[in-house]
Amino acid sequence: LKITWSVEDAEKGGYQHFMLKEIHEQPKAVQETLSRRIDSKTGDIRLDGISLTMEDLQKLTKIVIVACGTAYHAGLVGKYLIEKFARIPVEVDIASEFRYRDPFVDEHTLFIAVSQSGETLDTLMSLREAKSKGARILSIVNVVGSSVARESDDVFYTWAGPEIAVASTKAYTTQLICFYLLALYMGRLKGTVSDDSYRMMMRELNALPEKIQRILDRSKDIEKLAELLYNRTQVFYIGRGLDSAVAYEGSLKLKEISYINSFAIAAGELKHGTIALMEPETTVIALATQDRLFDKMYSNIEEVKARHAHIVTLVKEGHDVKDISTEVITIPNCTDEVAPVLSVVPLQLFAYYVARAKGENIDKPRNLAKSVTVE
Ligand code: G6P
Repeated sequence: LKITWSVEDAEKGGYQHFMLKEIHEQPKAVQETLSRRIDSKTGDIRLDGISLTMEDLQKLTKIVIVACGTAYHAGLVGKYLIEKFARIPVEVDIASEFRYRDPFVDEHTLFIAVSQSGETLDTLMSLREAKSKGARILSIVNVVGSSVARESDDVFYTWAGPEIAVASTKAYTTQLICFYLLALYMGRLKGTVSDDSYRMMMRELNALPEKIQRILDRSKDIEKLAELLYNRTQVFYIGRGLDSAVAYEGSLKLKEISYINSFAIAAGELKHGTIALMEPETTVIALATQDRLFDKMYSNIEEVKARHAHIVTLVKEGHDVKDISTEVITIPNCTDEVAPVLSVVPLQLFAYYVARAKGENIDKPRNLAKSVTVE
């Protein structure tokens, strides 16, 4: 008897790489993370095991979110959501910066650590620093019982399941879901979210798994795009508001696994330096999913088009951007706030297919580790 498959192949469930498998697991992971926290009868958010009362919120002067890598990018979205829905000032910091700069943190601070593994040393040390200064510690973690989870006052688990590929995908989308739930929960408690907008957001959140699936069902289009662009040496990601946060994550995915020099910038900042790098055929991925900022973003895309860049525009269905784009990627229609959960998916697929076209070692990229437990 000859065994022609390895245990690892079996675990990949028919996918060529763990990363692709994990990208495709996102509808389920998002669904799990939502359904564990939403009462199916009343539609109310339950933060089981987390005791955040009105009095707790009244005592808070600010929230500080600290993380590394992809988890930090989730924190950028988290800031936007908490400030919007709960009207509490939020700072976001990179753990390796936060822990060495004697930060302003006290007993009126809620410190949120975000970590897939719960073992990233800089994040853990930042948590300890904040704790020593009296902050209350809440963590958003994937690995149950990990160090960050154990040392936190409250843990908000993501239900992503094991993530094997070094490049994080489903952990990111489920971290975002935790931030939506947390921001809306706090907003409801404080009265800063109306019943109507709460119900609308719940509808939007519950529709995400099916919308992610629709994007995955059209993976072939992204694969073709990647096969067209895989030999580029430089790719820029631009966006405004929530799109800028997703631009950072899209750019990180590409550089991590394809080794293409990639750079993300808030689109309004282009003219302060980066636009000097635009030349004919420079590749720009322009995220324009935010209706509120669409006109401003449109002007930014025109600016790079005037330099003859190759522009891939990512928009919600129904937006006509053909005039200013070389290629267009669409995501299903949604409210601006939930767009990051959808717009990141084509960017993950793009990075994956570019790396595959280049023949790179996708699940274990050079020089990178899944969990960084050194300083
Ligand atoms: C490493 C991984 C990244 C991850 C980061 C933070 O750099 O390669 O994918 O985003 O660590 O990891 P954590 O487990 O704390 O989320």
